[in-house]
Amino acid sequence: MTSNGPMILCDNLVKIYKVQDLEMVALQGLDLMVDRGEFMGVIGPSGSGKSTLMNILGGLDRPSAGKAIVDGQDLLKLSAFALTRYRREKVGFVWQQPSRNLIPYLSVQENVELPMLVAGMPAHERHEWSRELLEAVGLWERRQHSLSQLSGGEQQRTAIGVGLANKPVLLLADEPTGEVDTVTAQTIMDTLRHLNENYGLTIVMVTHDVRASSQVDRVVTIRDGRTSSERVRRLRAEQDDQEGASAGHQDHEGAHQAHAEAAYHEYVVLDYAGRLQLPREFLEHLGISDRAQVDLTEEGILIRPAVGLNDSTAQAARLSEVAETWGPQMRSRDWRLRVSDASRGLRNLFRRPNHSGRSGDDK
Ligand SMILES: Nc1ncnc2c1ncn2[C@@H]1O[C@H](COP(=O)(O)OP(=O)(O)OP(=O)(O)O)[C@@H](O)[C@H]1O
Ligand SMILES: [Mg+2]
Repeated sequence: MTSNGPMILCDNLVKIYKVQDLEMVALQGLDLMVDRGEFMGVIGPSGSGKSTLMNILGGLDRPSAGKAIVDGQDLLKLSAFALTRYRREKVGFVWQQPSRNLIPYLSVQENVELPMLVAGMPAHERHEWSRELLEAVGLWERRQHSLSQLSGGEQQRTAIGVGLANKPVLLLADEPTGEVDTVTAQTIMDTLRHLNENYGLTIVMVTHDVRASSQVDRVVTIRDGRTSSERVRRLRAEQDDQEGASAGHQDHEGAHQAHAEAAYHEYVVLDYAGRLQLPREFLEHLGISDRAQVDLTEEGILIRPAVGLNDSTAQAARLSEVAETWGPQMRSRDWRLRVSDASRGLRNLFRRPNHSGRSGDDK
């Protein structure tokens, strides 16, 4: 079953791990959309939720709440049986350690054919597809080799072949270049790009490697379990136009970073309700904590520290926030009553006449 929508749609995705009595929120309302045929990179600090996202998209882990739809299938609603099928038929995986995908005592070709054998693919079809795959990852000549005779990059390319054995629509790669040198990493990136361009394969790749992240169509940054910003590859002409404008941003982190920034446009991500998460460095730099001043200017929207918020307006703002968090059924008059429960003194302060009998204090 296929659908025409985006390949991946995550809306307000939440994943909570329970460890003994503690709850660990690994994803807290993550939004993400990936088009069919896109080659997308995911970056972010350690512990930000990248692998959690991959495990959910791969059907290895269940989301706690929100939406995760892949190729038209809602991963929150799939039965255990349907999820196993999804994992086998829709997605392929490549991990940081190629050994996680490979069986050491089988040859390259046997490794690639094994998932096909398990899926019951007829022999002739199996040989044909494994040949095509091994040519695509550049290993046809080495098909008889055992894994110990392969370099790290060749092992990883075999693992990519294994990941694609069942013709998935989506390839998920969690730091596929994490354990190899730069030259080898480049052969892996070239292989992924080739598969993306020639088979229209959608790829989502987590990476720490700046060079790798500069070769994909789009890079999203995850911070604290949410997508916080994204960089989209710019067209050459547009890039030339704006070369001067972006030159000022290139003073940190070396040549690769400079290359990546020259080729990309950086955006913050708005969710479906128009909320956006500002980069923490900006907030810290400007000293913005819980409120900011927002103005519409000719250039766009200007966000500044909230100056002139004196004590009483700040308190009023905080009180109205309390009213909001108590939900729609607890608005205005009612939240005052809730406050009154907490303190007798406050009850006197906020007392209003009740509906049935108008009491003496109204006269
Ligand atoms: N199975 C689990 N049980 C409990 N907590 C978990 C589990 N898996 C991940 N976490 C926690 O969820 C958070 C996100 O972890 P995740 O592995 O997704 O991060 P990551 O972005 O992939 O980090 P890294 O770059 O180091 O691989 C971390 O705080 C982690 O400790
Ligand atoms: Mg990880």
